Amino acid sequence: MTTPLSAPVPAGGVDGARLPLRPELADEAPYGAPQLDVPVALNVNENPYAPSEEVVTTISRYVAEATRGLNRYPDRDFADLRSDLADYLALESGVRVAPEQVWAANGSNEVMLHLLQAFGGPGRTALSFAPTYSMYPEYARDTHTRWVTGRRATDFTLDVDHAVATIEEVRPSVILLASPNNPTGTALPLATVEAVLDAAARVEVPDAPEHDGRRAGAVVVVDEAYAEFRRPGTPSALELLAAHPHLAVSRTMSKAFGAAGLRLGYLAASSALVDALRVVRLPYHLSAVTQAAARGALAHHAELRAQVRDLRDDRDALVAWLRAQTVDGRPLQVADSDANFVLFGTFGDRHAVWQQLLDRGVLIRETGPDGWLRVSVGTPAENAAFRDALTEVVAAAPTPEKED
Ligand SMILES: Cc1ncc(COP(=O)(O)O)c(C=O)c1O
Repeated sequence: MTTPLSAPVPAGGVDGARLPLRPELADEAPYGAPQLDVPVALNVNENPYAPSEEVVTTISRYVAEATRGLNRYPDRDFADLRSDLADYLALESGVRVAPEQVWAANGSNEVMLHLLQAFGGPGRTALSFAPTYSMYPEYARDTHTRWVTGRRATDFTLDVDHAVATIEEVRPSVILLASPNNPTGTALPLATVEAVLDAAARVEVPDAPEHDGRRAGAVVVVDEAYAEFRRPGTPSALELLAAHPHLAVSRTMSKAFGAAGLRLGYLAASSALVDALRVVRLPYHLSAVTQAAARGALAHHAELRAQVRDLRDDRDALVAWLRAQTVDGRPLQVADSDANFVLFGTFGDRHAVWQQLLDRGVLIRETGPDGWLRVSVGTPAENAAFRDALTEVVAAAPTPEKED
């Protein structure tokens, strides 16, 4: 018998197999939202639109070309892809970086794992501010890095004084800031990121190399997985790159680009920081097929960006609709969102609401602080199905109090 895919790994092994599992992995479950076959899946913040036939044709052409050279290992430094990603970032944000300042891997999850492999490690600390993306502690665990969280305010913003005090107290080597944040949708003002960058540069990481009598400070990672969905006027931390060599801004093609299945994440940083990541990556970690498919998708960035504009409008409409709903006589609370999802609540028993939506064919995510739920923005038809289902669920009965 094998362990079900989402089940914890039993500490005592499976079927009597005695394996030297690392103690901290015993009884840990593999990360992942349920992959259920439902009519309306709004649970993992994907782009609901499949690639158009034009995009499919271009990707197929690029991949066919790469296939002809599959007897050879791929370009280890993915020079063409880096150059295309740098061009895309310049168009998207107005910030021009050199191809050597770009790094890529199989999803931004792997990009951030590389960051922890290079800058975390035994005796070191990674810091973030909760509630935030639930994979961060796993990068820390897997690299033997101590994991510490400060907190976000009740409106999910980050208080600068608290952030700076926590950095000074913890002296982390890596600080992870998601902006827009998952699961709350909150983008950070540049002034907040700058304050964190300054504090990160001031602290001395206990075992870091010394330069001019001072030890190096922390690397700050701004995870901009959802950046393309930010509202007009919300800046990107890419704007801070030129002045901060200890900053890395992570992006992905999984969300706005509608290419979650591709597994392509990337970052922009100083070339010195990127050089450190080259040391920890596996050789040829980005397959020739991945590199080709990503370049094919990037060639259609203009079309994809038009789609993102529609999704942003639909997100704003969903926020407005949710804010007009009442539950048990109280208006729903809805977090401001710069992403392609919305966090809303609060419910006495959010699991019951999640289940009743699922019973109606709508899968959303039970995540974030207790009482809150997160819904991804889908197609107009999917959003309507969600609205109808939620209307029925809250009208059917007062939301039950949670059974403990
Ligand atoms: C904040 C955040 N960062 C990173 C990721 C990872 O994305 P990927 O590995 O698909 O690039 C996600 C995925 O949901 C996310 O929400």
